[in-house]
Amino acid sequence: MKKLLIFLLFMNHYLFQISCQSTFYYNADYETKIDSLLQLMTLEEKINMLHGNELFSSLGVKRLNIPDLKYTDGPLGIREEQLKDRFASAGHKNDSATFFPTGEALAATWNTELAYKYGVAMAQEARARNKDILLAPAVNIMRTPLCGRNYEYFGEDPFLASRIVVPYIKGVQDQNVAACVKHFALNNQETERSYVSVETDERTLREIYLPAFKSAVEEAEVYSVMGAYNKFRQSYLCENEYLLNKILKNEWGFKGIVISDWNATHSTVKSALNGLDIEMGTRIEGGYENYYFARPLLDSVKAGKVDEKVIDEKIRRILRVMYNCKMFDPEREKGSINTPEISEVVYKTASEAIVLLKNDKKLLPVNKTNLKSIAIIGHNSVQKHAKGGFGAGVKARYEITPLKGLENELTNSVQINYAVGYVPKYNRIEVPGSRPRFVADNKPDSALVVEAVECAAISDIVILFAGANREYESEARDRPDMKLPFGQYELIKAVSTVNPNTIVVITGGAPYELTEIQKYVSSIVWSWFNGSEGGNALADVLFGKINPSGKLPFTIPALLDDSPAHALKAFPGENGTVEYKEGILTGYRWFDTKKIEPSYCFGHGLSYSDFEYSDLRLNKKKYEKDDSIYISLKIKNTGNYNGDEVVQVYVKNTNSKVLHPEKELKAFKKIHLNKGKELKVELTIHTEDLAWFNEKTMSWKVDEAEYEIIAGSSSRDIRLKGNFSIK
Ligand code: BGC
Repeated sequence: MKKLLIFLLFMNHYLFQISCQSTFYYNADYETKIDSLLQLMTLEEKINMLHGNELFSSLGVKRLNIPDLKYTDGPLGIREEQLKDRFASAGHKNDSATFFPTGEALAATWNTELAYKYGVAMAQEARARNKDILLAPAVNIMRTPLCGRNYEYFGEDPFLASRIVVPYIKGVQDQNVAACVKHFALNNQETERSYVSVETDERTLREIYLPAFKSAVEEAEVYSVMGAYNKFRQSYLCENEYLLNKILKNEWGFKGIVISDWNATHSTVKSALNGLDIEMGTRIEGGYENYYFARPLLDSVKAGKVDEKVIDEKIRRILRVMYNCKMFDPEREKGSINTPEISEVVYKTASEAIVLLKNDKKLLPVNKTNLKSIAIIGHNSVQKHAKGGFGAGVKARYEITPLKGLENELTNSVQINYAVGYVPKYNRIEVPGSRPRFVADNKPDSALVVEAVECAAISDIVILFAGANREYESEARDRPDMKLPFGQYELIKAVSTVNPNTIVVITGGAPYELTEIQKYVSSIVWSWFNGSEGGNALADVLFGKINPSGKLPFTIPALLDDSPAHALKAFPGENGTVEYKEGILTGYRWFDTKKIEPSYCFGHGLSYSDFEYSDLRLNKKKYEKDDSIYISLKIKNTGNYNGDEVVQVYVKNTNSKVLHPEKELKAFKKIHLNKGKELKVELTIHTEDLAWFNEKTMSWKVDEAEYEIIAGSSSRDIRLKGNFSIK
């Protein structure tokens, strides 16, 4: 009888899946199905579903046809298969995948449609590898240039991060894969990440560090959220009642699963009651059965410390995600790896991400007509970035290095003179009682510099590839400073002195100090850990097939100590606590308000063309509190190249009663314009988007005030201004 019931239930799932396209948050039929399933499950079966049984898997219930959940990292593409109980390659032969430009690169495109396609493409690969949960996107705000994981994140601005995260998640979930937005929350440094406690005031929490997560939940209906390693107000994130239960689940109405970061759980009863749903991590002593959410949780329920209703609620969340991902449906998306369409998405992302920082003498785009010789210098011209350092990487099906990209581009008539210039070297430092540390050796290698200089001297132009790699920027540690490593400053100076036609390409996912080299290098290009097609995209930008359109998603400070957390000596904290003393003044909010000139500002990025802005109009002068501000302006491509421009709209609240940043990004649009053409660009800001968080009333407040609207090509290249008020 029971078997028949189970069979009928299974058929029911199946037929239902075919007839109904779900909405995650309000699907009464799913909830009914879940009620029936819950009745059939034993307590042991339920508990089995609440913790990992392998490094990247948690159990279902075979008897009831509830499948296991399969997880995969992560932001760079579908990670190669790992051993069942720890982080080490499983040595499979068929687990290569596309290497996607990292999160910071995607943010630099400022292209929301592309973010959707990026999500779709990554999830297609996840499906092809039979994964259910993609441990991405990662949206922690860049608080310090030094954070080892900045390259995974979407930059320093909560608005930009929110606009990118929503289409990304929709793209992933449209392929029947659950996105897992991470790391919730305030995991803004790697130093002491497993225990540091973050202290922020409520306004800063709400205005800077939560918006990307909030949008992921409220707008994208993300299916899962990863609880971070660190503490907030002295309570671990995976047992943080305030952030998990009060804000995420109650205020925002999150209906999906909270998954712990790997080995980030610290308790059984507290975590179970405070909002954690699944405990994940590596195998511990005694095996997965000893996880907080395994036998100890079973015992706690039996001892009456945790009500079984709490367990049922967690199972409900898991089953809800399973239904929405069509995990009971044989017709579920099958996925595919590295199709031409996926390569196209990674190429487009890579090419739109590249930022032209400086081009004073118009060395770029390189004119091939009379080009006889080119010097390619720097280890980053041959460095691959799909793997390296600690944390997720991809066994890339292929990765085009910059040198390969240039070779693909150049015909035999151009002589390539190659010199490595520097090699990444690390010194081993013994740490008593702990693992050794490896510190970059920043002494220039004079023999390599001499060779590079000789190469530069005999070449028409030089492209020098500097910057970092994924060993140097890595999970689990922050960078020691903001300097370019491995003696690169000396190399750049020597090479550009002998050949003024030197173009420097920086590869990195976080700010580096460029103050000095800016003085003598006339063209600087910013590239990223830019995915399988990175080298092709870069060559196409350098030679003008692609007109650069990337815009910095972060400020590049002139000096590290100019940036807020460092200026206020509030990094990495003391005695296990880090106080975010700069409050809401992160990134450009700080630089603008304090009138500090950065090397390159937030939103900066040049084009080979010129764009003229005119005719800024608002539909009204005065708005109500619940109103839409319709903005229009005209953009004309007055240069000689077709190209893309990111129109950025900032708003300044001139109400002086409480602190407001000098200005804040509130809208943007990326447009394409052929040379000579003009376009009317329309953007909308809802007045509610101008609200600030009032800690006294614990609510959002739209000020009745005068506002300035500021449109530009970057946060400091302001072209047009207007005024309005809210009454
Ligand atoms: C990282 C997560 C990652 C997890 C699984 C952790 O160390 O913080 O971002 O998803 O490992 O690999």
